[in-house]
Amino acid sequence: MSKLISFHDYKPETLSLHDAVVEGLSKDRKSIPPKFFYDERGSQLFDEICQQPEYYPPTVEQKMLVDNATEIASLAGQGRILIEPGAGNATKVRLLLDALRPAAYIPMDISFDYLKSAAVALADEYPWLQVHATCVDFTHSLPIPDAVPDGPRLLFFPGSSIGNFDLNEAQEFLAMCRKAVRNDGMLLIGVDTKKSESRLNAAYNDKAGITARFNINLLHRMRDELGIECNPAHFAHEAFYNSSAGRIEMHLVSKQKQTLRLNGYRFNLDPGESLHTENSYKYTPIEFLQLASMSRFKEVRHWLDKDGLFAIYLFSAD
Ligand code: AVI
Repeated sequence: MSKLISFHDYKPETLSLHDAVVEGLSKDRKSIPPKFFYDERGSQLFDEICQQPEYYPPTVEQKMLVDNATEIASLAGQGRILIEPGAGNATKVRLLLDALRPAAYIPMDISFDYLKSAAVALADEYPWLQVHATCVDFTHSLPIPDAVPDGPRLLFFPGSSIGNFDLNEAQEFLAMCRKAVRNDGMLLIGVDTKKSESRLNAAYNDKAGITARFNINLLHRMRDELGIECNPAHFAHEAFYNSSAGRIEMHLVSKQKQTLRLNGYRFNLDPGESLHTENSYKYTPIEFLQLASMSRFKEVRHWLDKDGLFAIYLFSAD
């Protein structure tokens, strides 16, 4: 194993699926947080979503990162400490590493096993790179381990993951990023834009039905892991753009009157009633620049692809 790799486990507390389901299904408007999509099967399905022709963000963002890597590096400068919350298998950062030549890379993820294997593979591929794999719930804190050298920081948050936070959470997260990168730091972030409803609706209703399976996989988890007697066939995947809220909403809609039983709890569902499983906010550049400025980030530059489907922003903290 590379000598330039270290592991730091902040032992994030994870809300159990059981508690999330009891809490979410007890509400008048029933919901389940989107983070429960990502068990092993859900993560595989998400990778498949990213290969669907209708789901444009990953392909468009990757091309933008490749096309603009040199300019990003010349604006940000080489030798920064590169921090990536929710790094997963660290695919996108590979598109920037040769140009950015960071002094160290800090991938953060909630799953230690996943993080470890991704970090080891990356360190093998980039023998010059210091990797400090950090297991943490990045929605709560962004700790920088003591082993990380001092130096100006750059936080990388691609994939429009910011869109899965509601507006207050997004602002709080950006404020946390601002604190983590300090006064000489920068933020590079990928954000999905507002566009035609038909394009957005198609992206979350792919013809192959992968997004539907991803959504319905939550019901399989509830049945297999919690023992809730529920038939996934009694629910329908629904995803639509809510233009007044500026977001895609995903729901699991009950096709019939039914009761979900979990230990002593009973959750009654009427026909057409839904479990709200995800929001994915979309931002115009003006809206996103305004949101970032509320957390004291100043625009250095932003890039849009030729069709205006996706945006990448580089901010400085000063
Ligand atoms: C991870 N996140 C940015 C995706 C999105 O577009 O909001 C999750 C997703 N849900 C359905 N398709 C993709």
